[in-house]
Amino acid sequence: MEIRLFNHCYYLLPLFIFLLSTLPLTISIGINYGQVADNLRDPKDVLPLLRSINVTKVKLYDTNPKILKAFAHTGIEFTVGLPDKYITDLANSTSSAIHWLKSNIIPYLPGTNITSITVGNEVLTGKDAANVDSLLPAMESLHTALHKLHLDGRISVTTPYSLDILDSSYPPSSSTFKPDVKPYMAKILPFMWKTKSPFLINAYPYFAYKSDPTGVKIDYVLFESTDSGVVDSTTNLKYDNMLFAQVDAVRAAIVSVLGKKKGGELEVRVSETGWPSKGDVDEKGATKENARKYNGNLMKLVDKEKKGTPMAPHVALEVYIFAVFNENLKPGPTSERNYGLFKPDGTPAYDFGLKLLKKNSTDSLNNSRLTGVGNLTSPTPSPAPTPSLDLNRTSSAHKVSNCFGSLIELVVPAILLVVLSPSW
Ligand SMILES: *[C@@H]1O[C@H](CO)[C@@H](O)[C@H](O)[C@H]1NC(C)=O
Ligand SMILES: *[C@@H]1O[C@H](CO)[C@@H](O)[C@H](O)[C@H]1NC(C)=O
Ligand SMILES: *[C@@H]1O[C@H](CO)[C@@H](O)[C@H](O)[C@H]1NC(C)=O
Ligand SMILES: *[C@@H]1O[C@H](CO)[C@@H](O)[C@H](O)[C@H]1NC(C)=O
Ligand SMILES: *[C@@H]1O[C@H](CO)[C@@H](O)[C@H](O)[C@H]1NC(C)=O
Ligand SMILES: *[C@@H]1O[C@H](CO)[C@@H](O)[C@H](O)[C@H]1NC(C)=O
Ligand SMILES: *[C@@H]1O[C@H](CO)[C@@H](O)[C@H](O)[C@H]1NC(C)=O
Repeated sequence: MEIRLFNHCYYLLPLFIFLLSTLPLTISIGINYGQVADNLRDPKDVLPLLRSINVTKVKLYDTNPKILKAFAHTGIEFTVGLPDKYITDLANSTSSAIHWLKSNIIPYLPGTNITSITVGNEVLTGKDAANVDSLLPAMESLHTALHKLHLDGRISVTTPYSLDILDSSYPPSSSTFKPDVKPYMAKILPFMWKTKSPFLINAYPYFAYKSDPTGVKIDYVLFESTDSGVVDSTTNLKYDNMLFAQVDAVRAAIVSVLGKKKGGELEVRVSETGWPSKGDVDEKGATKENARKYNGNLMKLVDKEKKGTPMAPHVALEVYIFAVFNENLKPGPTSERNYGLFKPDGTPAYDFGLKLLKKNSTDSLNNSRLTGVGNLTSPTPSPAPTPSLDLNRTSSAHKVSNCFGSLIELVVPAILLVVLSPSW
């Protein structure tokens, strides 16, 4: 927290300290910092927001210098993105890769802790055939360049996939890649294994619910199942939430290509997941209450309980929530512009009233383990929210100049924390 915020408001200090001292600040989770908006707060104002929810890992879709500079020496770990448009360039040339690294990564090291670079976003299921063919060569070229710069031990090269790469996904253990994806995976996966690169999947149980709100149980997608779990009859593993079933479907597909030993050694991360707090009339389930439940329960599961998925129960699952902000320039249905935990001005996107603040620890997740019905994954997973491109960002760091503003700025994230917090 930045003390300067208290300039004219020191009489509020005891309140803040009281609030903060009573909060269980134990969440450690990743978040996607998308910037397809023209009204976002300045990056330096974002750090306190992330700290307030104990985010320690940030994923960018680009290498925005303002953000990478603002987050130097903060302890935040970064996954940054090489945008799609550079993929074909890098594919043929290590020197292009070195040039890109020297312009976009090296200047921020070691102050900013960049640990991973994603090559494009959901390239394999995208429409650009040249990029599809260039994906692995670009990843290899980037890795070779990192090696030459002695950075390959510190920075991994990976790429996020959409769940659309899967053919069947039920039951999870018999999941496979789509026939047109498989030949690419057959080459990419050995590279990823060899270079210890994490496998990134963008997974949105929300899409499954939206596409079949009567068939898919809302409790199952919101981590609040009350009835008996969905059992994978091949493995006898029990699933009480859809996200974990989706992740294990991905694990099984990887094993189908790499084999059990190597496949099991590849780390799977959820590079995007989330829930919109608002949608069009035909976007069932896109409500603040559901968004609060999805993200809150997820944080609890992953960070507090340190739960792995049934296929890898002892492996902590790294998850990046989508996203920090509602992004006003994203195309598509209303939900696309409402995935943020925060509004552009830094106040929480959900209606966190005092009623919720007082909510006792009749912990919704606990009341309601085990599970639902319906298919484990969406039959036709929708495309993930469109990746952030580097559109114009005129960060209108709108200065809060009165105490009420400061109060909002500090207390509201605190309330958000309380509401999302597992053990309040
Ligand atoms: C954030 O979470 C991590 C991991 O659970 C924990 O070690 C750390 O103390 C938390 N930070 C704060 C400020 O509580
Ligand atoms: C990359 O190499 C392929 C063949 O190796 C060639 O067809 C393509 O035009 C090259 N692309 C660029 C950008 O040089
Ligand atoms: C960067 O993040 C990695 C992974 O969490 C960690 O191991 C490393 O110590 C961090 N480096 C710095 C300089 O903080
Ligand atoms: C679940 O999948 C089965 C077969 O894969 C299909 O027949 C059924 O309609 C699906 N149910 C829902 C709710 O999607
Ligand atoms: C909260 O829970 C505690 C114990 O579980 C109980 O004693 C207390 O009355 C509850 N408070 C409210 C406001 O419900
Ligand atoms: C939560 O679950 C644990 C273990 O299942 C149980 O011991 C505990 O009483 C539960 N707490 C609540 C509030 O239901
Ligand atoms: C934002 O982008 C639009 C179209 O790309 C452009 O017309 C406009 O001038 C840009 N605004 C700023 C502030 O860069």
